[in-house]
Amino acid sequence: MIEHVAHPEWIDVERWLTETVVKPGPEHERALTTAQERGMPPIEVQPTSGKLLSLLVKISGARRVLEIGTLAGFSSIWMGQALPEGGHLDTCEYLPEHAAIARENLAEAGLQDRVTVHVGPALDTLATLTGPYDLVFIDADKQNNSHYLQWAVRLGRPGTVVVLDNAVWEGALLEPERDPANAPSIVESLELLGGPLFDATVVQTAGSKGWDGFALAIVR
Ligand code: SAH
Ligand code: DHB
Ligand code: MG
Repeated sequence: MIEHVAHPEWIDVERWLTETVVKPGPEHERALTTAQERGMPPIEVQPTSGKLLSLLVKISGARRVLEIGTLAGFSSIWMGQALPEGGHLDTCEYLPEHAAIARENLAEAGLQDRVTVHVGPALDTLATLTGPYDLVFIDADKQNNSHYLQWAVRLGRPGTVVVLDNAVWEGALLEPERDPANAPSIVESLELLGGPLFDATVVQTAGSKGWDGFALAIVR
C-alpha cells in the first residue's frame, strides 16, 4: 500500500479554500466526525473535491447518479444534495458496517429518500441495476477500476459523465511496483480512459489526502 503524504502547507491551503470557497454545511462536518468516531479509514474525498462532484452533478444536469464506494456517505451527501427534484443516487458499498453508518449520515442530511445504499460487492450490485445513468463516480477497490469503467459504459449512454478517484496515487503511475496491489490496476484503468470508449482527462490534486487526482471523462 502506498503512503499518502500530505504536506502541511497543502493541508493549510485546502482548509482555507474549504472555509472561504467550499463552505461545507453541518451535515458534511457531521459525516466526517461520525466516520472518525467510528474508526473508519480517513479516505473520503477532500471537501474541495466533494464540492466539485456536487457541481458536476449540477453542470451536467444529472438526474440519475451511480457511485461505487460509499464509505460513510461523505461524497454521497455532496452529490445527493446537488440532484434536482425527482433525481436519485444509487451508491454501492461492500461492507455492511460502512453502509449502516452511511445511511445514518444520509438520513441526518435529509437524503434518505434520494439515495439508496446497496450493500455487497459492487460487481454483484451493478449486474442488478438498469441504466442509463447520467453520472458515475468510481471510488472503491482499485483492482476493479477497469471493470467499473466498463459498467459505466454499459449502464451509461454517450455523454455520461465518469469521475474516477485516485488517478495519480502519489505518482505511482510511473513506478507501479511501488504499490503492486493497486497501482497496476490504476494504470490499466487510465489506459482504458485514454482509449476509444472515453473522452477523458486527469486533474492532479494536492491536499489533505496527499498527492493524487481524479480522472474526468464522458462516455463516447
Ligand atoms: N466515496 C467515498 C469514499 C469511498 S472509500 C467518499 O469519498 O466519501 C472506498 C469504499 O469502497 C470503502 O467503504 C470500501 O469498503 C468500499 N469497497 C471496497 N471494495 C468494494 C467492492 N468490491 N464493492 C463495493 N464497495 C467496495
Ligand atoms: C485510499 C482509497 C481512496 O479511495 C482514497 O481516496 C484515498 C486512499 C486507500 O485505500 O488508501
Ligand atoms: Mg478515493
